[in-house]
Amino acid sequence: LFSATRVQTVSTMAADEEVVGTVKDQLAKLFEESLRVTVPDQTDTDPLIAACNPRFGDYQCNNAMSLWTKIKGTGSAFTGPQPVGQAIMTNLPRSEMIESCSIAGPGFVNVKLSRQWIAKSIQKMLIKGIETWSPKLRVKRAVVDFSSPNIAKEMHVGHLRSTIIGDTLARMLEFSNVEVLRRNHVGDWGTQFGMLIEFLFEKFPNMEVVSDQAIGDLEVSENLFRKLFICFCGHLFEYLYEIFPNMEVVSDQAIGDLEAFYKASKQRFDSDPGFKERAQQAVVSLQGGQEKYRKAWSQICEISRKGYEKVYQRLGIVLEEKGESFYNPYIPGVLEELSKKGLIEESEGARVIFIEGKKYPFIVVKSDGGFNYASTDLTALWYRLNEEKAEWMIYVTDVGQREHFEMLFTAAKRAGWLPPGDNSYPKANHVGFGLVLGEDGKRFRTRSTEVVKLVDLLDEAKSRCKAALVDRGKAEEWTEEELEQTAEAVGYGAVKYADLKNNRLTNYTFNFDQMLNDQGNTAVYLLYAHARICSIIRKSGKDVEELKKSSFQDLSRLSLQDWTVGGDNLRRRLGMIALNLNSLTLMMVQKTSLIINVYLHIEKVSYIYILLYQTGALVLEHPNERALGLHLLQFAEIVEEACTNLLPNVLCEYLYSLSGHFTTFYTNCQVVGSEQETSRLLLCEATAEVMRKCFYLLGIRPVYKI
Ligand code: ARG
Repeated sequence: LFSATRVQTVSTMAADEEVVGTVKDQLAKLFEESLRVTVPDQTDTDPLIAACNPRFGDYQCNNAMSLWTKIKGTGSAFTGPQPVGQAIMTNLPRSEMIESCSIAGPGFVNVKLSRQWIAKSIQKMLIKGIETWSPKLRVKRAVVDFSSPNIAKEMHVGHLRSTIIGDTLARMLEFSNVEVLRRNHVGDWGTQFGMLIEFLFEKFPNMEVVSDQAIGDLEVSENLFRKLFICFCGHLFEYLYEIFPNMEVVSDQAIGDLEAFYKASKQRFDSDPGFKERAQQAVVSLQGGQEKYRKAWSQICEISRKGYEKVYQRLGIVLEEKGESFYNPYIPGVLEELSKKGLIEESEGARVIFIEGKKYPFIVVKSDGGFNYASTDLTALWYRLNEEKAEWMIYVTDVGQREHFEMLFTAAKRAGWLPPGDNSYPKANHVGFGLVLGEDGKRFRTRSTEVVKLVDLLDEAKSRCKAALVDRGKAEEWTEEELEQTAEAVGYGAVKYADLKNNRLTNYTFNFDQMLNDQGNTAVYLLYAHARICSIIRKSGKDVEELKKSSFQDLSRLSLQDWTVGGDNLRRRLGMIALNLNSLTLMMVQKTSLIINVYLHIEKVSYIYILLYQTGALVLEHPNERALGLHLLQFAEIVEEACTNLLPNVLCEYLYSLSGHFTTFYTNCQVVGSEQETSRLLLCEATAEVMRKCFYLLGIRPVYKI
């Protein structure tokens, strides 16, 4: 048999190795081939693949109906959608992916994936890392504009949402092989600065001297404003206590000081017309680049920045600041271009872009000649496209800014910067999110302050988690450091997850008890579930890295002569396989528990391709094992969906149901001490690995024991 035919092993398997993309992508490729044969004239038909009702299979191809609508009455030989579906099924190229197909309803082709193939894919992932399961998006570079607080104002819980959602989107895109520019578009150039600077000068006429001193001492600059007050307002202590009734607390939170300072200056601005005028003049001086004003400005920014940086560090978030001020020098050139294109018109002294269907125009130059939020955003968009060469621009803010972004994107389309429609690149999207509500159903605030301080929230989440761990007796079991780290991972994770699991457009209610519950769809539950899987593996006493290695050897990399199993020479094995070819599927190799699957594809009569796989240790025999395995495999398409629709909750839902699949499997399939121990341990490890990647993408640090 072997001498009469051409045996190909190595080369065909190399091609198979390169198969990339999600399960859906891989099926789509097969169906594309089938469609080309089935309806050769319909060249623009893309395969429509979707997950299907588990009663019928794992996936389905939905092209038959729409194809039938197109071809009926054109003299085609088909008599209805069902025969079209039948033909699509018959013409499907053979593939080791597919176990069986069936036709349902008006021509849906249901596909059941092969268990062996699912197992093999999981083993490959275990060996080569979860990156092999990363989706490939069409975009090379994207800007994610997120967090973006406003200098001198407190970074509030709305900014927390933007920070959490934006970071997750950035992580998911990065995992999907997109280069992400993480942009912190801080509000560092608004008219508020005139007011702040003027107020600063008023309170500290001797400013120049202080600032140098303060900057010389870095420790001090943290509390700069407090020191400033103390040094120069000795006689104004009354006032100081008025602004900072809670001195002790404030002193530790420079950013809080700055916020109070902001409020005081705003009050002054609103009540004193003379001050207001000076403040407006200060903006002009600042924007004109006057040294003294620039210095005061950069100092105010620096204090804010330090406060933000602390929050980012605690949350593990990386961002690159390119604030509004960065784009300022480019604005005139960009507006000039838009003027030349005839987009900008005069209206009531201002320069505006009229947008069809909008009540108000998009104001790009105010009537006093100053630039604004809109002029900056137009310019930033231009910069991101032309200088940074981004193909996808994503803006994460509350839904309240939807109108602004609609106008911005429409203007960009009219300028020809972006293509019309929403499906081609370069593309811009506004990722809006709803409010954070308190338990009273109103905007989330605490009793004493209008906005909730972010750091306080994180502190509280952590300390509640720590208390719960102490309750469980962990203080005796663990070191203080372990206790701290676990409390932090779980606490911060809970805050993030509670935000991300909802569809971002809905308002969500901030509730510590709910988010810290160890039952239900919470980070606490999921992190504990992960820790439990880790402990199953630990308790088995097996080295899972060793199991992984011995379970999977990539035979395609070996030449025929090299290959030995349990000391047996391949030629002898091939002889055995040849004898067994009549029975066609698999044979056991005695001595070891290895199973060799022999796939025989007769493509043309004169060729026989034999692919040898040592699928070895991972076998998905039990229905719950198969269901878990399939769910693991769907990870890539879930990330892809979450990216394309910019919906992190899709990933949360996946993670939660993964944990459900695992529980079902674990309840019905004994792992440690069972005959299938190795296989099942590998399945546990694969689950833990996918869970960890989900946590990572959601910005949550996993815990390993509980
Ligand atoms: N600083 C703004 C705010 O706090 C958000 C900025 C969003 N990004 C942008 N390019 N407009 O509301």
